[in-house]
Amino acid sequence: MAESLFVTKTSDRKKIYNEIAPQIAALVEGETDLTANLANITAALKEALEFFWIGFYIVKENQLVLSAFQGSIACTRIDFDKGVCGHCYTTRQTIVVSDVEEFPGHIACSSLSKSEIVLPIFDKNGEVAMVLDVDSDKPNDFSEADAEGLQMIVKIVEELI
Ligand code: SME
Repeated sequence: MAESLFVTKTSDRKKIYNEIAPQIAALVEGETDLTANLANITAALKEALEFFWIGFYIVKENQLVLSAFQGSIACTRIDFDKGVCGHCYTTRQTIVVSDVEEFPGHIACSSLSKSEIVLPIFDKNGEVAMVLDVDSDKPNDFSEADAEGLQMIVKIVEELI
């Protein structure tokens, strides 16, 4: 397991995603504890991309339940028909919200959150097993580069479950 991350100082997120994806794969390699791996993945993404908030919600007891995250305290349980996370769960698609105030039903865990991206994570049966949620304190902060870059991380998690 690598002990530190190598991240180029750049505002080019695509470059950073390409740089950290193999490092994150190495970070979780050989470790079977899912919580430990999810925790390290959120720490690596927060450190490399300086996200305002990043975390996983796991499908449990017919809800999305907060799991490993980095950032300020957040809502612990989200119903499948609520919020951006619930919308991601039900549509099974990556959701990019450029202005959270414009998204009906957005759940504001922090009033500082302005834009958001949520990706579904599928288990081996093709069911959504968790979602990866990233919040920004800047409006319109997520693009296709983030959807593609975070998808690389989702693939790594899908190998773990
Ligand atoms: N905004 C999310 C809730 C989770 S927090 O952002 C951490 C939503 O609307 O589902």
